[in-house]
Amino acid sequence: MRAGCDLAIRGGTLVTASDQFRADLGIRDGKIVEIAAEIADAREEIDATGLMVLPGGIDAHVHLAQPTSDGTVMADDFLTGTRSAAAGGNTTVLPFALQVKGSSLRECLTAYHEKAEGACYTDVSFHLIVSDPTPQVLGQELPALVRDGYSSFKVFMTYDDLVLNDAELLDVFDVARRERALVMVHAEGHDAIKHMTRRLEEEGKTAPYYHAVAHHQIAEREATHRAISHAQLIDVPVMIVHVSGRDPMEQIQWAKKRGMKVFAETCPQYIVLTRDDLKGLNMDFEGAKYVCSPPPRDTDSQDAIWEGLRDGTFDVFSSDHCPFYFEGANETGKDNPRARTSFKWVPNGIPGVETRLPILFSEGVRKGRISIERFVALTSTNPAKLYGLYPQKGALVIGADADITLWDPERKAVITQASLNHGADYTPFEGMEIEGWPVRTILRGQTIAADGEVLEQGRAGRYLSRATSSAW
Ligand code: URP
Ligand code: ZN
Ligand code: ZN
Ligand code: ZN
Repeated sequence: MRAGCDLAIRGGTLVTASDQFRADLGIRDGKIVEIAAEIADAREEIDATGLMVLPGGIDAHVHLAQPTSDGTVMADDFLTGTRSAAAGGNTTVLPFALQVKGSSLRECLTAYHEKAEGACYTDVSFHLIVSDPTPQVLGQELPALVRDGYSSFKVFMTYDDLVLNDAELLDVFDVARRERALVMVHAEGHDAIKHMTRRLEEEGKTAPYYHAVAHHQIAEREATHRAISHAQLIDVPVMIVHVSGRDPMEQIQWAKKRGMKVFAETCPQYIVLTRDDLKGLNMDFEGAKYVCSPPPRDTDSQDAIWEGLRDGTFDVFSSDHCPFYFEGANETGKDNPRARTSFKWVPNGIPGVETRLPILFSEGVRKGRISIERFVALTSTNPAKLYGLYPQKGALVIGADADITLWDPERKAVITQASLNHGADYTPFEGMEIEGWPVRTILRGQTIAADGEVLEQGRAGRYLSRATSSAW
């Protein structure tokens, strides 16, 4: 005799990366065990009539409790960051474990695991950031870590404390090729940005807005092309992260047309913000709330990004949640004395893990720009595949983890700081009107958030070791 289900979700519309259909979904021991027109018996029932039943959101690009070179404190640790993620319909997040220059990767990773231990509402898994590719790191640490389930790492083409030169990039790509890892590239040309920054400062142009001028789209295009060329030379897949506009997209399209394994990610800030947001009220410091890298561009780039979300130029839609406090004239905030002397001291990054899914659903699905199946592919299924979590995650199939987001496509909401669960003291999306909202988040069969309330007993997130990326 077949054992009954622990939980049945009845009457909803199941949506996957390829289909949508009416079905009941049965869960036992944290796994999906039944998908059928009607499920016989279950100890607990959820009525999902009128709701969409989606695989839980996977935010493949978030920064939590990450150390910064100047001691700026991030506004989210694992507790608040994953709480915010859960409220926003996510069941898994992938933050970065940063190698501090001069330290070993392992050392940094151990410290990072300690911060996450017991603190997470969602499941988590870490990408590595390689900032110091010493022979020891390239020859021993990195290969061993990939085999231990850290199957992706990020490299930076800018930032003084993180930038790798071309020789170092090629070395890291070589390791990725040998170990079948996925390299994520922050593609912005460091020298071009530094040159522009110095010139702007000489002209007295130091307001936050000029961050968007210094981090020019041409510098992003150039670095994107360089990263792709290096990847082609080494014959290794790459993921170009947080792509901001039309120019870098054209480089990615060029590569994809040639059959290269170049993958791309974009983020909410590039579809609903523009560089004008960095002007604040009147070229004032309010603009610091929108400082991120690459910066938001213009409406032409927004149009290009929508096209790319539809046509497959983009594989993944992440938040790049990287929260800093705005208020406070102390060193921990964006509004610190040094940041007021030049945009170059404003910490780069904005919060957004909780608003990623609502923004893409409302602006994309509701407004007819992308299908609901594409929404699921970009926000859950593709990240699961590309980062080695599929089909345990990102799929509504028998045997998968029962990570499910119940989505009300009609629910209207306004994004406000007061309504969010993150640790930051502002949202760059304040006042945005949204249609469609996650009303319940279920992790391995347990409700972790419902109607904006995150359940304390839902703090049961686990660390996920990952397999090889589907990019291989
Ligand atoms: O400005 C941003 N995006 N900060 C986060 C770090 C990064 O480069 O992803
Ligand atoms: Zn980056
Ligand atoms: Zn980032
Ligand atoms: Zn900058």
